[in-house]
Amino acid sequence: MRLRKKHFAIPEMQENPYVDFNGQDHKGNWQEVFDNKNDIYLEIGSGKGGFISQMAQNNKGINFIGIDLETNALVYAGRKLKDLELENARLLPINAEKLLDIFDKEVSRIYINFCNPWPKNRQHKRRLTHPRFLEIYKKILKKGSIIQLKTDDLDFFQDSLKYFEDSGFEKLEIDYDKKIEGEDYIVTEYESKWRSRNIPIKFAKFKF
Ligand SMILES: C[S@@+](CC[C@H](N)C(=O)[O-])C[C@H]1O[C@@H](n2cnc3c(N)ncnc32)[C@H](O)[C@@H]1O
Repeated sequence: MRLRKKHFAIPEMQENPYVDFNGQDHKGNWQEVFDNKNDIYLEIGSGKGGFISQMAQNNKGINFIGIDLETNALVYAGRKLKDLELENARLLPINAEKLLDIFDKEVSRIYINFCNPWPKNRQHKRRLTHPRFLEIYKKILKKGSIIQLKTDDLDFFQDSLKYFEDSGFEKLEIDYDKKIEGEDYIVTEYESKWRSRNIPIKFAKFKF
């Protein structure tokens, strides 16, 4: 979905202490930013920030970083983190292609929620689970880390399972109809839309 351009987005985010436009300055030193040695969990494609804000609120012993290239959505994620004063969360307005500039091997978990399925063959390389991206993730993840994927799109999901397998990730959990279990389960903005239309949510968890 294309969001209407919000001219206030970038200036507002520049004033928001939870948004960092210079992530590359902290490569290898993110623990200093958070002033602790807690694990760093990364969400790619945070959108309006429902997931990262709830995760950060529920897991104060973990540092969360959300990235998204769409500032028109991320501005709202920034408002959520600021309103909740979430010291264990930051947002970076960047493309996932730039992750190697931002992180050394310092990420313990990656979440990819409802990314664009890019259905046409010629678009597949833009998928956030494409082997091209998985190779980037391998360089920023600690050994033994987890990548978690949720999507509504069956073709994208099945292709992604193959991408992960071909790239040497170990399958931990595959579910073609993920139910909302327990209080810790967070429904993202897009997920709530698909669930209301009774579209089964596909879920996978891999180990690096
Ligand atoms: C369909 S939205 C899902 C938003 C949110 N994760 C959710 O589940 O409600 C996908 C998001 O991924 C972002 N995105 C797509 N490609 C990206 C990339 N290469 N790097 C960073 N973000 C990306 C888009 O801008 C968009 O905000």
